[in-house]
Amino acid sequence: MEVKDAVRQKYGEAALRVNTSGNSCCGAAPGAAGCVDPITSNLYNSGQASQIPREAVLASLGCGNPTALAQLNAGEIVLDLGSGGGIDVLLSAKRVGPTGKAYGLDMTDEMLALARENQRKSGLDNVEFLKGDIESIPLPDNSVDVIISNCVINLSSDKDKVLREAFRVLKPGGRFAVSDVVVRGDVPPEVRRSMELWVGCIAGALRDYDYVAKLAKAGFDSIDIEPTRVYSVDDARQFLIGEGIDAGAIAPQIQDKFISAFIRAVKPVIKECCGPACCS
Ligand SMILES: C[S@@+](CC[C@H](N)C(=O)[O-])C[C@H]1O[C@@H](n2cnc3c(N)ncnc32)[C@H](O)[C@@H]1O
Repeated sequence: MEVKDAVRQKYGEAALRVNTSGNSCCGAAPGAAGCVDPITSNLYNSGQASQIPREAVLASLGCGNPTALAQLNAGEIVLDLGSGGGIDVLLSAKRVGPTGKAYGLDMTDEMLALARENQRKSGLDNVEFLKGDIESIPLPDNSVDVIISNCVINLSSDKDKVLREAFRVLKPGGRFAVSDVVVRGDVPPEVRRSMELWVGCIAGALRDYDYVAKLAKAGFDSIDIEPTRVYSVDDARQFLIGEGIDAGAIAPQIQDKFISAFIRAVKPVIKECCGPACCS
């Protein structure tokens, strides 16, 4: 199966589980009832959760809390790449207020239906959910102030294209403010693959220095990666044992390597050269 089809199927099923079991919980332990996932659980405080419908909180499948860390100002346009059940779009819409707008972009029909239902329950009308791929964003050049995303870019098999598209749609001076799973440094490939499957990174997480290099190649500057959660072998022990892996033996290779991080970057403002005097 193509990576994208596998991702769509997995998140389509997760969206449907929100309405049936009331908990999508599909990170470490897919479909486990009442599981406490070390990646997706306890990301939002009660102040944030109380602002939006319960179903939007239950549908949360991110690995961070981008709107808590991003600067969002009244009147700004925000775009959430891979918006899922819409939690970060609705929180953004509250922050930018009625003069601003929050877009969510997702490729999975079941997630879009869930997000639109959550928008309806929230009563917010400065929100729009778009169907499409983060590798080909259906918005014009220079039209967005802030791009957020929560644990989605690691799922893409063409991360360069995602970052190029993010750069294209951001206005000059626009901010990239994304939560994602990142690998710190080098990990043996077979260990890395097992951990990535545990995290749910079907396509593979980027190494921290590759993330920085790809953002720079896309044109961004002021790039920064701030760790928000560090995973240990204990977090993944049950999964690894299930895969027939001796968790104790690989612990030293995993320790502190797999993290959730908040990734910031800025699209620079290029000063147009209008004549000999104005460029000096
Ligand atoms: C891990 S969930 C995160 C959802 C949401 N950001 C959250 O925090 O709850 C990933 C979401 O990204 C969407 N997605 C994954 N790859 C995508 C792609 N290439 N283009 C558009 N959407 C994608 C999936 O359909 C799913 O809804």
